[in-house]
Amino acid sequence: MSFQFILLLFLCYAVNHSVSDPRATEATPLMCTNRTALSSERQQFVANFLDTMDIVSPLIARQRYAAVVNGTQNLKVYTFGECMKDLSQPDCNLCFARCKTRILSCLPFQKGTRGGKLFYDGCYLRYDDYNFFNETFSDEDKTVCGNKSFGGNHTVFKANVMELVRNLSVQAPNNGGFFVGSVNRGNVSVYGLAQCWEFVNASACRNCLAEGVDKIGSCPSKEEGRVLNAGCYLRYSTFKFYNNSQIEPTGSKGGRRHLAVILAATSSSFALLLVLATATFFWRKKVLMRRREKKQLGALVDTVNKSKLNIPYEILETATNYFANSNKLGQGGSGSVYKGVLPDGKTVAVKRLFFNTRQWVDHFFNEVNLISGIYHKNLVQLLGCSITGPESLLVYEYVPNQSLHDFFVVKKNAQPLTWEMRCKIVLGTAEGLAYLHEESQVRIIHRDIKLSNILLDEDFTPRIADFGLARLFPDDKTHISTAIAGTLGYMAPEYVVRGKLTEKADVYSFGVLVIEVVSGKRNNAFAENSSSILQMVWSLYGAGRLCDAIDPLLEGNFEEENSRRILQIALLCVQASAELRPSMSVVVKMLTDEHKIYEPTQPPFLNLSNAETSQLTPPQFTSNSQPGSHTQSSGNSMTQSWIEPR
Ligand SMILES: *[C@@H]1O[C@H](CO)[C@@H](O)[C@H](O)[C@H]1NC(C)=O
Ligand SMILES: *[C@@H]1O[C@H](CO)[C@@H](O)[C@H](O)[C@H]1NC(C)=O
Ligand SMILES: *[C@@H]1O[C@H](CO)[C@@H](O)[C@H](O)[C@H]1NC(C)=O
Ligand SMILES: *[C@@H]1O[C@H](CO)[C@@H](O)[C@H](O)[C@H]1NC(C)=O
Ligand SMILES: *[C@@H]1O[C@H](CO)[C@@H](O)[C@H](O)[C@H]1NC(C)=O
Ligand SMILES: *[C@@H]1O[C@H](CO)[C@@H](O)[C@H](O)[C@H]1NC(C)=O
Ligand SMILES: *[C@@H]1O[C@H](CO)[C@@H](O)[C@H](O)[C@H]1NC(C)=O
Ligand SMILES: *[C@@H]1O[C@H](CO)[C@@H](O)[C@H](O)[C@H]1NC(C)=O
Ligand SMILES: *[C@@H]1O[C@H](CO)[C@@H](O)[C@H](O)[C@H]1NC(C)=O
Repeated sequence: MSFQFILLLFLCYAVNHSVSDPRATEATPLMCTNRTALSSERQQFVANFLDTMDIVSPLIARQRYAAVVNGTQNLKVYTFGECMKDLSQPDCNLCFARCKTRILSCLPFQKGTRGGKLFYDGCYLRYDDYNFFNETFSDEDKTVCGNKSFGGNHTVFKANVMELVRNLSVQAPNNGGFFVGSVNRGNVSVYGLAQCWEFVNASACRNCLAEGVDKIGSCPSKEEGRVLNAGCYLRYSTFKFYNNSQIEPTGSKGGRRHLAVILAATSSSFALLLVLATATFFWRKKVLMRRREKKQLGALVDTVNKSKLNIPYEILETATNYFANSNKLGQGGSGSVYKGVLPDGKTVAVKRLFFNTRQWVDHFFNEVNLISGIYHKNLVQLLGCSITGPESLLVYEYVPNQSLHDFFVVKKNAQPLTWEMRCKIVLGTAEGLAYLHEESQVRIIHRDIKLSNILLDEDFTPRIADFGLARLFPDDKTHISTAIAGTLGYMAPEYVVRGKLTEKADVYSFGVLVIEVVSGKRNNAFAENSSSILQMVWSLYGAGRLCDAIDPLLEGNFEEENSRRILQIALLCVQASAELRPSMSVVVKMLTDEHKIYEPTQPPFLNLSNAETSQLTPPQFTSNSQPGSHTQSSGNSMTQSWIEPR
């Protein structure tokens, strides 16, 4: 029996360690429909869209497709996403995360567009204002042929392509809407994949693919061809782009069958099992070795394993009681956080990353190394990571008290924070940020300053959590899209609109945070101008009545002069142009009275719905069409501004 178990382990190992490729490349450029929402309806439409996106992501992570509707009457938003069935779940998540960021370029508040459709080679995402879930064809259906002609015998090639796509289009509808295969005749190989989306039934799938076969017939002197219909995806290529190593369409082939065969062998012949086990063991070992060498990670993995920073996965798994829900502390944009107790009794917070860092272990480990060397009284220290296990984990120091979010939004505590505590929080946060920006040996932009990232320890000293993520995830285009749903209110206009990330973006978020802490109210990115707290504080400043903005829960127990100064500094920080905002070290000096406090000259940037009427250039969240590479236009400023260590 124990041999069965060992074999199972081997098989799990084999699946976990397959080299991955999320195929997050655009099969065709993003398509935005030209139906637009009335300007009066745009805000609500965006809000509904974001609500659907919030629900879609976890569904994708669970079942690889998702269909969600939100909104009422004529402002309903329908969103559908699905991964190609051959992608592993981590690759699916990654592909989808990139897809999600990209589709924001159709977002209604920029162009007023009520629909968008994006075909990646690994996943698909569409939103619209009507129910398209079982749609088979649409006006935007496309046939995309590669631009490279096949070099060999065209007659043979064409025959192979047609045989392949015909067979795929016949097999897929009977096989859960998915099939991959290849044809190799006359020394010419062609590979193909066909998939129908989840809600397209078998007969519609057949029609959709049959039409695809007709259209793809216009391609075959080219090495690649794709048909992108509303209900299905069909592709052929001269290289094997799909992965049939982990496919389990309706459980009929692939890994499942091997497992069944081997398990059957277990009960019938002990000797055979022994041979099999040994063979499997050496085979796996060899394959793994070769793969590692190929990726030139062999030496690095050794270094990582020897480093004190790398905490073995098993230890963290045990420490968090196998990531039990009762140990869960919270959920962030990049992963969920669990409380854990290490064998030496030390309590830690373990962040389970949504991203697989396996493809760039070297970069990740170097950054963890740099960031873990940063120590300051107002920062939550990064203690280590686990990157050689099945998923990537970050280990932080545990901070016992709650986050500002718990105090101001969840209101777990009956007692509101006193004025003195709030002053301490504002100054401590400023000092922590000044240290990250200007004093530590590596330059760090936080990128995500908000109430839930400021933790409080026993004596209410603020501790900034999650810093360094902007360095750890250099290609993370998903941040803006995850943040857009929850924390848009904190993001500097130049970051939202152009993706330009500098220290001044943190200064802006800090200003918003200070106003929230002092006023006890939340900033809402989608509020009408008149109800935005930034607008409110700015108007009160003009009227010389800043003290009216102070949290009424304090019942007047605050220092008037001091509170005016703090709010004026906050207004300096939220000015629309980054150049006008002070640096964090100047903010600290202003707070401690060592520096004159300027008059803010520009009103705060109010909300995104009037981004289009502002002087800012059109949004380009992700202007690159190859998400795997660094962004050229918008990303340049982003990478250049924080990559170089000092
Ligand atoms: C598919 O997986 C195998 C191993 O599981 C790997 O060698 C191969 O590179 C993968 N191919 C693609 C295109 O992802
Ligand atoms: C945009 O709408 C017009 C009619 O309003 C239509 O004729 C045209 O084909 C549409 N363009 C696209 C790209 O959908
Ligand atoms: C839309 O989403 C919001 C937030 O998740 C939810 O409160 C609301 O009930 C949803 N509306 C519909 C019609 O599903
Ligand atoms: C598509 O599905 C919806 C319900 O999900 C149904 O009302 C509609 O009739 C279907 N359309 C077609 C063409 O089958
Ligand atoms: C072919 O298409 C690819 C992208 O699909 C592009 O990068 C490349 O420049 C094109 N080559 C030619 C010769 O047009
Ligand atoms: C291509 O292959 C076919 C069948 O093998 C053969 O009849 C034909 O002559 C070949 N054409 C060329 C240009 O080689
Ligand atoms: C394609 O289908 C035909 C008819 O069912 C069959 O003869 C042929 O072997 C199939 N080709 C491949 C590569 O599966
Ligand atoms: C198959 O094609 C390759 C190059 O494409 C050629 O080198 C080889 O000789 C061919 N083999 C046969 C049996 O035609
Ligand atoms: C399958 O879907 C098509 C189009 O959505 C619809 O017309 C047809 O009635 C459906 N068939 C079945 C059996 O549900």
